[in-house]
Amino acid sequence: MTPKLILRLLAAAIVVAGLTFLAVQIGGRRPAPEAASGLQAGPGGPFTLVDATGRTYTEAGLKGRWSIVFFGFTFCPDVCPMTLDTLGRTLDLLGPDGRKVQIIFVSVDPERDTPAKMAAYLDNPAFPKGVIGLTGSPEQVAAVARAYKVYYEKEGEGDAYLINHSSISYLMDPSGRFARVLPYGMAPEALAGQVRDAMKRG
Ligand code: NI
Repeated sequence: MTPKLILRLLAAAIVVAGLTFLAVQIGGRRPAPEAASGLQAGPGGPFTLVDATGRTYTEAGLKGRWSIVFFGFTFCPDVCPMTLDTLGRTLDLLGPDGRKVQIIFVSVDPERDTPAKMAAYLDNPAFPKGVIGLTGSPEQVAAVARAYKVYYEKEGEGDAYLINHSSISYLMDPSGRFARVLPYGMAPEALAGQVRDAMKRG
């Protein structure tokens, strides 16, 4: 073999090796088991809670409408009232699209946040109208927090304890699936943009 031929063969071998490597890479990219079985990999999924009227409320309540779901507690001094206010402004900015969105406030304080307490709290005229307040047994609340990958932890003793909790909100699509995270502290204009964008994508 001439040196030129050897070089050509070498070059050809390198190309074949490269293509084989690529093929293995592409073929190796299999969907995660959750995706393959149709289960959600993101936040969300089945839950059983109680609404502010005392009725059972499950993930079926998310079907047919866009939902913004966030977690907190009625004694919360800052994050929760601020979130409710911000989400209310966001829906106002969305105009007619805002009427396709429901706000769901899930308590991570099942000890104090009874359905009646949730109802009284959300009746505050400073908050947006029609917010769905959910609570439940400590086990039910722990389960929904797990499903939504939400952190919460009691801080302090006695009746005046606080609860540290995740402050993000989740936008869920009308099939009840996770669409995107709506970060705490984002301005209503930016949040409205996020919701509009998600609606456009379906
Ligand atoms: Ni809070």
